[in-house]
Amino acid sequence: MTLYGLMLAMECKSYLEIGASMGGSVIVLADAAPKRVVVVDLFEDKSRRSLETALCMIKADVVCGVEGDSTLARTVERVAEYAPFDVVMIDGGHAYDTVASDFRNYGPMARKAVVFHDIAQPGVKKLWTEIGGGLEISAKGTTMGYGVVFKND
Ligand SMILES: C[S@@+](CC[C@H](N)C(=O)[O-])C[C@H]1O[C@@H](n2cnc3c(N)ncnc32)[C@H](O)[C@@H]1O
Repeated sequence: MTLYGLMLAMECKSYLEIGASMGGSVIVLADAAPKRVVVVDLFEDKSRRSLETALCMIKADVVCGVEGDSTLARTVERVAEYAPFDVVMIDGGHAYDTVASDFRNYGPMARKAVVFHDIAQPGVKKLWTEIGGGLEISAKGTTMGYGVVFKND
């Protein structure tokens, strides 16, 4: 099972990605979210051009890149204008405080699932353990891997 396959199986229509870097994951996963795709990122110089190009290539009805620190209230408010999302992926800052903040702020915007990337990284792993884990996709033996928490409603 891939995350892309899981999103198709869940009939995902809208997708939020916190931390998009050069757009490598969003350019693929956006194909499983035809209605709305939003990313939050710092848009660092080293990745800005690639990410902007990736966003231009996405064919969803609504595509938006929100530039800013995901932990700031003004960033959360801008993203909330597009909420809810079927799937929210958290892959921004991997320090515990940052990932916990992202889960607190953007987790409630997810209708079907919250996905964490790099669940074997210490900060993410700590939160993943605290919340009781969930479905793990290709995490074994690496510092990467997705962790999926399904929403009940
Ligand atoms: C691991 S990379 C994302 C990789 C991407 N999801 C992929 O798989 O192709 C993390 C990204 O999050 C961004 N980032 C880190 N801390 C952030 C924060 N507090 N707010 C927004 N973006 C942040 C970084 O600049 C970087 O672009």
